[in-house]
Amino acid sequence: MPRVRNARVVEVAPKQPRPAPAETTVGPLSSRGGACRIWVGDCRRILPGLPEVRAQAVDLVFADPPFNWNRAYDQWNDALPREDYLQFTRDWLTICAGALKPTGTMWVNIPDDTAADIVVFVRDQLRMPMANWCIWHYRFGQNRTGGFINSKVHALCFVKSPERRTWNPLPVLEPSDRATTYFDPRTQNKRDGMPPGMRVPMDVWYGQYWGRVQGNNKERRSYHDNQLPEAYLERVVLSTSNPGDLVLDPFTGSGTTAVMAVHYGRRFIGTEFSLANARSALARVEAGPHKPGKALGKPTAIFAPRTTGRTGKAQGR
Ligand SMILES: C[S@@+](CC[C@H](N)C(=O)[O-])C[C@H]1O[C@@H](n2cnc3c(N)ncnc32)[C@H](O)[C@@H]1O
Repeated sequence: MPRVRNARVVEVAPKQPRPAPAETTVGPLSSRGGACRIWVGDCRRILPGLPEVRAQAVDLVFADPPFNWNRAYDQWNDALPREDYLQFTRDWLTICAGALKPTGTMWVNIPDDTAADIVVFVRDQLRMPMANWCIWHYRFGQNRTGGFINSKVHALCFVKSPERRTWNPLPVLEPSDRATTYFDPRTQNKRDGMPPGMRVPMDVWYGQYWGRVQGNNKERRSYHDNQLPEAYLERVVLSTSNPGDLVLDPFTGSGTTAVMAVHYGRRFIGTEFSLANARSALARVEAGPHKPGKALGKPTAIFAPRTTGRTGKAQGR
């Protein structure tokens, strides 16, 4: 029976005889007293058998699939023929959407080349409206000269019902530019229900803690070159789920969704094709996030505070 060092892990061994490696499923591996459970294998085979999925008991899905960019994943073939990749995409989207409660939300993190396919499929076939089309903007995109350098991924937010969906903006508010930069008194007396000087973040996400997790970034986990920033999942978890809710990530990877969900009192279930990644994710959940809360409430204005030329004082309007 596999064990994870430095983590309280309970595993259920696969039944004998063992299937071929590519078909292996293991799990659940669990930690934090069962708050985090991860199954190892192909999400398309595992998820339909889980009671929580069959009962449509999932509150929040966050999916960051392989992009089919020929990356050296531990196990997964990331260079499928295009039509196979699209079928794979339609399959897991259908399973995840079918797992949601009527109040549920599904986020998909996806680059330019497949975003449009997903938007059309989810709208027309899965009949889920889009609540937001956000952009995660990062610096340090791969250098190129034959076109503009890519510096974004799409964060697509679909909901079962716009009227019934879980939406909690208060924990993720940020100071508005009117407050930090233009000193506009109107922002101190707002009529939109938000606290003075604060606003719901814009739909392009960037900032101090939002860069790609790479190089010597302290947040970085070894062997995970596609790890998302904690700040990203912190915003997703806090704004579109409630404490106690069930969060599902079909592509757990290094466990960014898991660690933020469990830290903020949600329950987590996930699948991951690589046993090594699943073990790493569990150890990460046991250790807790690197800097929870640090990115919350930070201004994102890109201009310096405006001052009057003569007095040097902030300009009131
Ligand atoms: C882009 S990474 C996810 C990264 C993750 N969001 C993070 O922050 O660490 C995609 C992950 O999906 C896993 N994967 C690929 N195909 C899978 C499948 N069919 N079922 C389950 N996991 C899969 C890969 O092993 C990889 O770890």
